[in-house]
Amino acid sequence: MNFAHDELSVNPTKNRPFQSILAAEVSRRSALRGGALGAASFLAVSAVTVRKADAQPSAIVGDFEAVPTSTADTVVVPDGYTAQPMIPWGDPIVPSGPAYLDDASNTAEDQEAQLGMGHDGIHYFPLGANRGASDRGLLALNHEYTIGAQLFTDGTEEWSEEKTKKEQAAHGVSIVEVAMNANGEWDTVESELARRITVNTPMRFAGPATGHRLLQTSADDAGTSPVGTVNNCGNGYTPWGTYLTTEENFNGYFWEETEGDADTISDEQAEMNARYGVGGQGFGYQWATTDERFRADLEPNEPNRFGWMVEIDPYDASTTPVKHTALGRFKHEGAAFATAANGAAVIYMGDDQRFDYVYKFVGAASWEAEVAAGRSPLADGTLYVARFDEGARGEWLPLVHGEGPLTEDNGFADQGDVLIKARMAADALGATPMDRPEWTAVHPTTGEAFVTLTNNSRREEPNVANPRFPNEWGHIIKWKEDGNDPGANLFDWDFFLVAGPGDGVDDSSISAEDQLGSPDGLWVDDNGRMWIQTDGSQPDGSNNQMLLADPGTGEIKRFLVGPVDCEVTGVTSTPDGSTIFVNIQHPGDSGPFDNPTETSTWPDGAGAGRPRPATVAVRRSDGGVVGASFETTSSTGATDENLARTGTGLTAPLAVGGVTAMAAGAALLRFRTRIERSQSRDTPGDLT
Ligand code: FEO
Ligand code: CA
Ligand code: CA
Repeated sequence: MNFAHDELSVNPTKNRPFQSILAAEVSRRSALRGGALGAASFLAVSAVTVRKADAQPSAIVGDFEAVPTSTADTVVVPDGYTAQPMIPWGDPIVPSGPAYLDDASNTAEDQEAQLGMGHDGIHYFPLGANRGASDRGLLALNHEYTIGAQLFTDGTEEWSEEKTKKEQAAHGVSIVEVAMNANGEWDTVESELARRITVNTPMRFAGPATGHRLLQTSADDAGTSPVGTVNNCGNGYTPWGTYLTTEENFNGYFWEETEGDADTISDEQAEMNARYGVGGQGFGYQWATTDERFRADLEPNEPNRFGWMVEIDPYDASTTPVKHTALGRFKHEGAAFATAANGAAVIYMGDDQRFDYVYKFVGAASWEAEVAAGRSPLADGTLYVARFDEGARGEWLPLVHGEGPLTEDNGFADQGDVLIKARMAADALGATPMDRPEWTAVHPTTGEAFVTLTNNSRREEPNVANPRFPNEWGHIIKWKEDGNDPGANLFDWDFFLVAGPGDGVDDSSISAEDQLGSPDGLWVDDNGRMWIQTDGSQPDGSNNQMLLADPGTGEIKRFLVGPVDCEVTGVTSTPDGSTIFVNIQHPGDSGPFDNPTETSTWPDGAGAGRPRPATVAVRRSDGGVVGASFETTSSTGATDENLARTGTGLTAPLAVGGVTAMAAGAALLRFRTRIERSQSRDTPGDLT
């Protein structure tokens, strides 16, 4: 999202490694390079720059001609590609649903059956034989936030309960069934699997904090059954066929007339509110005027029921979404999956706020065993936070009650306290304050993990992993766990990319032709292609964009530029790689309610009543693998190998938190075979 609220710091701690650590890092790297270099040129000599200069064209970044930066009100893709807008905000989730009205006069009830606003994270779940189809599947996508000037005919001045309900219905998640026609164009079809999940959808908690005193409210004195999800930003997906949606800036929806410490709010809660940014009138949403659930003074624990990772079964519309307390409460963004050496599920996560942290969750047992037993592998495990050390080493610090400073004396009476106050526990452990961790990604074969640090204009003190101050353009860090085991406690890390104008300007590690700022969305696809999406000012004033990179060599090339005032965020692919789906969020977001098309009419074009966020289906005109070289043979359908990369084609029925019975044995065996086979290949590039 582009709210400035993302960028405020509410971390009061001094977990900021000293200049001496940076100096040591500079010295170490300079020694490696055989030079005597000062801090100013630290990044200019980092390994990533060397790698870029040496990079050879690879099978990962294909031979398409890079698109130039753009300020046009359209989606620009390379020659030989098409970009088809689809499922914009307001379209019905099935063709027979309530039609979109271009003057925004649809009701709240209509909105509950239409795509939400603020398209963000997205994932394609195949349907068809063996759930492997590349021409028919489910798209699960997030709707992060709403723009009142576009959502309402008359804007937000005259507020009403109906407006609260419409805005709440335009948040959350959509699941739609989509199919490709003979012309290679995608659209929704009638489906019993299509559903909306909104701010008012019943959910339940799983994990150690379920039923905790801090999760109990007047409507749910058991503290087990939260309602709704909000500010759904980045996403993840699991090999057992579920969608993960992240709750980011939940604080902005709550009101109370002080700074989060009204008389009705306990000292403990006031301290939490300060650390999570709850107080005042939030971001200006007016829900609290008609829905007391969002009055933080009247329902002091309600904010504690947001800020979680939510697991959804897209293949069964009757299932209840689950908020996994074991993954901690913070402003969740990334949710990249990996499998530990012992078979446990690992999820890498960012907490997007200036000076907040990178986390990972490691499941308590093999995820295959958990799935086979009918439990979600995310319900039980250990949460860790990252400390990035000098010497390119790092350590995962466990958020476990009773260990180290996480004791009752320090305000952590039990594991529920630790997870609900995860930011405060991470403060106490001495985690490394980062430059706004957004999305995470894991390479499907090398196991390297990545996180985008989007920017931090308020950084005044560098640390070893965030060396620019201020950090105007952001960077991407990568790490590899000891023993290549995602469950390890120690890791090696390095910079993957330092964004900016390029050619070393502001220490940026890329070429000027590849300039970018504010990396945010990030995905390494089944074939090892890294897609980097931006959300923020671009060095030359371009619209936001998406680039394709080789995670091994650092080679990078601009692939797509979005329309005016948009953010490019969220990307997924069909199993055969012949279509990628990319989300365009908040096009034309600066237009006022009485002239919403002031800066953009995308995607509906001239005569449109208002711009709309939408998904774009990007395909090669020859039907080949998107991003690969044109000489690569056309896609021939899903293969065992590319399905194995992420398990997106798995047929295992899902158990979310133990609700659904399952019989996953055969599918899991097939998955393991695929993984073993794919890991024996020499390079990911062989696949295409
Ligand atoms: Fe919703 Fe941090 O982007
Ligand atoms: Ca983001
Ligand atoms: Ca962002």
